[in-house]
Parts: sequence; C-alpha cells; structure tokens
Amino acid sequence: MKRLAKSYSDYLRLPELLRLQRTLTSARDELHFIVVHQVFELWFKLSLNELEAARAGIGKDDLPRAVHALRRVHEVVKLLTASFPVLETMRPYDFLEFRNRLQPASGLQSLQFREIEFLCGLQDRRYVALFGRNGESRGRLERRAAEPTLWDAYVACLRRHRLLAGSDRAIVKSVVKLLRSPDRHPLGPLTEALVDLDQGFSSWRLRHISMVMRMIGSRPGTGQQSVGKLVARGYEQMGEGGVDYLKTTLGKVFFPLLWEARTMLTR
Ligand code: HEM
Repeated sequence: MKRLAKSYSDYLRLPELLRLQRTLTSARDELHFIVVHQVFELWFKLSLNELEAARAGIGKDDLPRAVHALRRVHEVVKLLTASFPVLETMRPYDFLEFRNRLQPASGLQSLQFREIEFLCGLQDRRYVALFGRNGESRGRLERRAAEPTLWDAYVACLRRHRLLAGSDRAIVKSVVKLLRSPDRHPLGPLTEALVDLDQGFSSWRLRHISMVMRMIGSRPGTGQQSVGKLVARGYEQMGEGGVDYLKTTLGKVFFPLLWEARTMLTR
C-alpha cells in the first residue's frame, strides 16, 4: 500500500532530523557548528542527485534538462559559499572551547564532497584510502570512480554532435569553436553551465580557506591523520595539513580543458 504523509512533520521526518544534532560539549557554538555542517551535507546530497540528472540529460541529448540541473547545483554552491559568514560569527576563542573534541573528524573526510569531485571528473584515487579498507563509504567512492563522469558524458556528446574529441587537443579545439558562437550551437549553453559550476566550486574553495584562516590561522587541522594518509600516498608535502593542505587544492578544477580553450580562443 502506498504511504501517504500525515503531516508536515511526518512527511519531512522532522522528529528524526531534529534529533541528529548531538553535541559533545556544552559549548554554545557547537550546535551552530553541527547545524552548518549538516546543512552543507544535505545540499551536497541534492547536488549529487542533480549532477546525476545532468549526466543522464547529456547522455540522452536532453541538453536543456542537463543545463537546468547544472544551474541548480551552481545556485546551491553559491548559497553554500555565501553561508560561510554565518559560521564566521563563531569567534576563534569560542571554537577552541570544543574543537579538540572533534579530532580526528575533518571536512576532508566528507564522502559526498569527494563524490561530487569524482562524479564531475576530478578523480584523485588517493582519497579513497581516507575511507578505510572496506565499508560502505569506500564502496560508494569506488563506484563513483568506476562510473562515467560528467566530463565523459560531455566528451561523448561532443562526438555525437560531430565535434572532434579524440584527444585533449581536439577537445580544446572543439570547445574553442563553441566559444566563438555559443548561442548558435546546442552545446554552447551546456559548456557555459559546466564552466559556471567549476567556477562556483573554485569560489567555494577560496571562501572556505579564508574562513579557515580566520578561524584557526595556520595551526594543524583536525584531519591531520587523514592528511598523513594522503602524504603517504605521494600527495604534495603539506606539513601537518590545515591551511597548507588547503592551499594545494586551490588550483583544482573539474574541467581543465574548458579553461584551456579560453586561453586558445583568438579572433
Ligand atoms: C570552523 C569551520 C571550519 C574549519 C576550521 C575548517 C577547517 C578545515 C581544514 C583545516 C581542512 C583541511 C584538512 C585538515 O587539515 O583537517 C578542511 C578541509 C575541508 N573542509 Fe573544512 N573547515 C570548516 C568548515 C567546513 C564546512 C562548514 C564544510 C562543509 C562541509 C567544510 C568542508 C571541508 C571539506 C570538503 C574539506 C576538504 C577539502 C578538499 O580536500 O579539497 N569545512 N577544513
């Protein structure tokens, strides 16, 4: 039998949801800290769903649907970036009241954030090691690593539209072509939507690091152990993590060839 919602609270499972903010201390800011992180994770969940829809849309050549889904994720990322000031109302001294209790938890271990990167096409498999040897999280990330990415879908779409895509150079050339007349080709809006998304995540990274510097300066992050695992797998040297680690991530983009095409564009 189909289940029908009885009320607002029943439909949204509010009793369960509102029981999930369990603090470890009596520090006033801890509830704030947990709520902000949980909200981010909920938006990441929606973003993954929309990115899957975008990939499916591209696969079926339903490009308006793909652009619509990408636009939604872009708006979400803008919202998340704009919400860092809420977290910044927590003063560094107040954060220290409970920060030690979080160890070794760190945003570095956010599975959904890493899934977003993997799904878009930014796949650094060294991160898989952060999720243990087995278990559900590791399995999820490994599945993401095995499935076609948003970038794969885009490249296949270039081919279907008779644009060359046999090598990175050919892809850049094709994208340059699209950039010359973005409104005349069906792939024009899609290409711009991918760039918007990428730029949105770059802004997120910049805003996050600036918030981190304000909050903890250059002291080690709570994810020091996880950073150690990355270093052991040949990730760049970054001391004890923290801001040093985050600086190594600032140049990351999902779709490097779309950016390269902008360098190659001439009149
Ligand atoms: C007081 C607030 C915050 C501080 C001090 C902070 C600090 C840090 C630090 C130091 C790192 C580097 C890893 C480490 O050394 O632990 C990191 C990574 C990360 N944080 Fe935050 N963070 C804060 C809030 C947030 C929020 C609200 C989110 C949203 C989910 C978040 C998501 C992430 C992600 C996804 C990474 C990994 C980034 C990457 O690998 O590219 N952080 N954070």
